[in-house]
Amino acid sequence: MKIPIVRTLSALQKITREWRTANKEISVVPTMGALHAGHLSLVREAKSMSDKVIVTLFVNPTQFNNTKDLKSYPRSEEDDIKKLESFNIDLLYAPENHEIYPEGYATQISVSGVSEGLCGDHRPGHFNAVATVVAKLLIQTSANIALFGEKDYQQLHVIKRMVKDLDIPVRIVGCETIRETDHLAISSRNLLLSDKDRKRAPILAKTLMDAAKRIETGEPQKIVLEDSIKILRSSGFRSIEYLELRAESDLKVLEMVDEPARILASIYLGNVRLIDNVKVRFGNS
Ligand code: PAF
Repeated sequence: MKIPIVRTLSALQKITREWRTANKEISVVPTMGALHAGHLSLVREAKSMSDKVIVTLFVNPTQFNNTKDLKSYPRSEEDDIKKLESFNIDLLYAPENHEIYPEGYATQISVSGVSEGLCGDHRPGHFNAVATVVAKLLIQTSANIALFGEKDYQQLHVIKRMVKDLDIPVRIVGCETIRETDHLAISSRNLLLSDKDRKRAPILAKTLMDAAKRIETGEPQKIVLEDSIKILRSSGFRSIEYLELRAESDLKVLEMVDEPARILASIYLGNVRLIDNVKVRFGNS
């Protein structure tokens, strides 16, 4: 079924005002397009949770660390629309740049703490840009619920912190990472891998999953993480930006695992930067 597409804030707000007057619960799934099974699982979840589902499609220029990355970011609006049609969503909001950043735009949101370390150390300004655009999309759509993938685990924390601190009336829902059958976390970047690297890429998830199991059985995290780095290096991965264990609740550094945790990694295979994270259980978590 054809889905309504709006490109202006005024058209969006005309529709959402009617929905809110009719007491409809609205979910939003913010995306930068190039939709894959990970995004579509968020859409499926959104449909099960609310009366109306909005997907946003906006390639946010400010969150890229260089113009080459921004230019090469995959754009496939027609394909994205086809994929969304099979989910029968209620609205696609695909704003022009000036609907998000009108002339004279001068405001930035900066979330400290959870945005520091991990990806924050390697992508200066990235999380400020993400927090700012997500705040705008949440306010513009006036959604009650917003869904994000756990694959970008630090991003999810930054958004949760920002929404709490700014009293934005929306519930943030984090959804499990969707994986290929060989466990590789689904990402639009996977398409950039050479055939040889695509075969090697699942070693990342497997190494993190094995490390999580070892830590859960009480092995010292330092030894386990060092072993994981060795395995990845000898499997052809290079430039390990980080491979760290952090608390699941707030990403603080954990000297010992006495609460649920995550092992998070960012690493290059060829020229492709892959990120992934897995849960480390504690007690019954
Ligand atoms: O995860 C993404 O695709 C983007 O960072 C988001 C949340 C849509 C903001 O541009």
